[in-house]
Amino acid sequence: MGSMIIDGIRVEFTDETNVLTVIRKAGIDLPTLCYVSELSVYGACRLCTVKDDEGRYFASCTVRPRDGMNIQTNTPELRKYRRTLLELLLASHDRDCTVCNKNGDGPLQNLAERMGVRNIRFKSAQEHHEVDNSSNCIVRTGDDAIVVKSTGPMSRRYGASENVAITGCILHSRDSALKIGTETHGVIRNVTLSDCVIDDCSRAVGVWVRDGGTVEDIHVHHLTGCTRRYADSYQLPGAPGWWGKGEPVFVSATPRKGKTGPAGVIRRVSFDHLYLTSESCAFAAGEPDSEIQDLRISEMHLTLQHHGTQPGGLFDEQPSARHIYPHAIPALYARCVDGLTVKDSTVRFVGENEAWDGSVAELEHCRRAKLELEKLV
Ligand code: FES
Repeated sequence: MGSMIIDGIRVEFTDETNVLTVIRKAGIDLPTLCYVSELSVYGACRLCTVKDDEGRYFASCTVRPRDGMNIQTNTPELRKYRRTLLELLLASHDRDCTVCNKNGDGPLQNLAERMGVRNIRFKSAQEHHEVDNSSNCIVRTGDDAIVVKSTGPMSRRYGASENVAITGCILHSRDSALKIGTETHGVIRNVTLSDCVIDDCSRAVGVWVRDGGTVEDIHVHHLTGCTRRYADSYQLPGAPGWWGKGEPVFVSATPRKGKTGPAGVIRRVSFDHLYLTSESCAFAAGEPDSEIQDLRISEMHLTLQHHGTQPGGLFDEQPSARHIYPHAIPALYARCVDGLTVKDSTVRFVGENEAWDGSVAELEHCRRAKLELEKLV
């Protein structure tokens, strides 16, 4: 609570979380591109930059309001700075506006109009790539290829993340091809993934609860491809390690580090017709107070084969108190699962690898487990 001076006018504030919100409260329409009030602050476009009475410039969406602040939002210098920023953004943007279905209604185009930017002095930085139209859906990413979440603010505003069907995709990622959950406080339900190619991902499908949410009725059919361990990010100081060590299936209900109490609920999850070459096991692990309920796997045909460059022999339960730790790799590992059915499934171990000892399944604290997982030689 306090007050600040904006363009010479005193404005009171109470619980506003950033200076931009106070500026808007004062009725000033500052241009912005990257700010979305419900999401965490990104501060990338810098269009909301203002100047304080000590000559400092800062992005107003990234700074908390302080009592006694004195800022200017609309000096000739700031207007020139914003126009230059906009030109730089436009330089790396596709300029075929007349054939874009957002023509006349794009935020960048609207801002250019409003700020009188007609000429772009900078050479186009737009990269041109051949269009790969061998599938209607090709996703190539560093982080997860497709993510379904139900975060606190979004679930309070929109309810459950539900009724999602993903089909016919070629997915490449250094993390999961499909990640469901993690930052999930609400409900995710009725998600299907079918008929997809997993193109060398750290994980094929990961289903997590960490923050008390519920993930239910998730069904995965007909996948083929490869999962493998990457470790290149560890060479970059401060970069997080990729999640996943080559698991074809990963279902995990464990609280975050430092948190107590149930991690959340995972129930009624099924996988069928998986034909995958992998460097790690089908992994399903809950905790005594957050058991995974009713996990069914059928027609899973795994080839455990080392085909990347990194050593194996690790279980990866990031982000949680269990984190990453050495463990021999069976074909299937399950902990704290109530109702585990694996049927008509096979595994082949190919080549020598110190990561696995050839064991087919390892179960800890599981109830109602039925396994038909044959080792092929
Ligand atoms: S709105 Fe983009 S940095 Fe503030």
